[in-house]
Amino acid sequence: MPSLDAITPGPLRVAIVGGGVMGRQHAGTLSGVPEAKLVAVVDPFQHTLADDCQVPGFTELGTMLDSIAPEAVIVANPNDLHVDTALQCMAAGVPVLLEKPVATSLDDCRTLIDAQRRMQVPVLVGHHRRHNPVIARARQVIESGLLGRPSMVTALWQTKKPDAYFEMRWRRQTGAGVILINLVHETDLLRHLYGEIVEVQAFTSNALRGFEVEDSATISFRFENGALGSIIASDAVASPWGWEKNLNEVPKFAKEHDQPCILLSGTEGALSIPQLKLWRYGEHADWEAPLFQQQLGHVADDPQVLQMRHFIRVARGETAPLIDIEDASRTIAVIDAIHLAARERRSVKPTYP
Ligand SMILES: NC(=O)c1ccc[n+]([C@@H]2O[C@H](COP(=O)([O-])OP(=O)(O)OC[C@H]3O[C@@H](n4cnc5c(N)ncnc54)[C@H](O)[C@@H]3O)[C@@H](O)[C@H]2O)c1
Repeated sequence: MPSLDAITPGPLRVAIVGGGVMGRQHAGTLSGVPEAKLVAVVDPFQHTLADDCQVPGFTELGTMLDSIAPEAVIVANPNDLHVDTALQCMAAGVPVLLEKPVATSLDDCRTLIDAQRRMQVPVLVGHHRRHNPVIARARQVIESGLLGRPSMVTALWQTKKPDAYFEMRWRRQTGAGVILINLVHETDLLRHLYGEIVEVQAFTSNALRGFEVEDSATISFRFENGALGSIIASDAVASPWGWEKNLNEVPKFAKEHDQPCILLSGTEGALSIPQLKLWRYGEHADWEAPLFQQQLGHVADDPQVLQMRHFIRVARGETAPLIDIEDASRTIAVIDAIHLAARERRSVKPTYP
């Protein structure tokens, strides 16, 4: 008879690359998920996370891969290092949870897509909001037809980041900016909810912070299904509208639970996220008639934990990634189109890989 050990795998041995804010958050998530354990941290500039978690710390990824042989790696280093880091892990045959953005340009995405096709090592991209039960419920509502024909969507992401946040130089430079750091999430969610984006227009501004990257943006989208959408965003304004404030994901942010950050409307109904309030007409459907509001339910859960559990299954080969490199690269294609549209002040059709 096989031993129990042969039947039940031990905790997945996971290393983290990048011991900053997000690396620490992943370490915290891992500590609450018994199916995995942290075995090492790689960071050339600080040892704090490794020390705090009492695991070996490394300054080089290659050395860590050789000496620890982790079963999976979480990549949470600066955006412009994602591709090289993921390639190195894939070449070693180690599955990756790669933080968003998957890459900082479509060209870099293509390099990753080619490598993935050759190496067939699973990579999950960290668009954790797709794992949020609120988003799963919103998708159900759209698919069930309660909104009628999905027609309009507005995402608001407006907040004031502290000046200290920008002491990390990479956050002030090309490859970062509010679009690639934050709006990559909104863009990905809009694609997830309404389908592919076929045309983009955008204004961006760096007037509030004065960095080389933008701090504010207004973006307009045309979707393949004919719907229109927008994102209105800034990391330098006082506002109650934004994912972190309106949802419970990260405790350190003060909450404005009654405010929405994504507003969807169709020919038959409208839905607010995260409140999941559904508005529909009664007998008469015209602008003078009342709309009736219904509170939809959902079972709340931590999307980071859900993402980690999913990643463990991905790393073990039990399921395909919910967001793979190709899917995440289509979001980067839209981001590239946004930057080009803003730079050249014209509408741009994303080029998908
Ligand atoms: N999913 C999300 O909601 C979310 C939220 C925040 C950040 N992120 C992403 O996570 C990544 C990290 O962001 P952050 O805010 O934690 O940044 P951070 O600056 O706090 O941390 C990055 C860490 O990477 C380290 N580092 C630099 N070069 C390295 C290298 N060559 N190898 C290994 N480590 C290296 C730095 O020393 C630093 O400790 C970014 O890609 C960011 O876009 C995702």
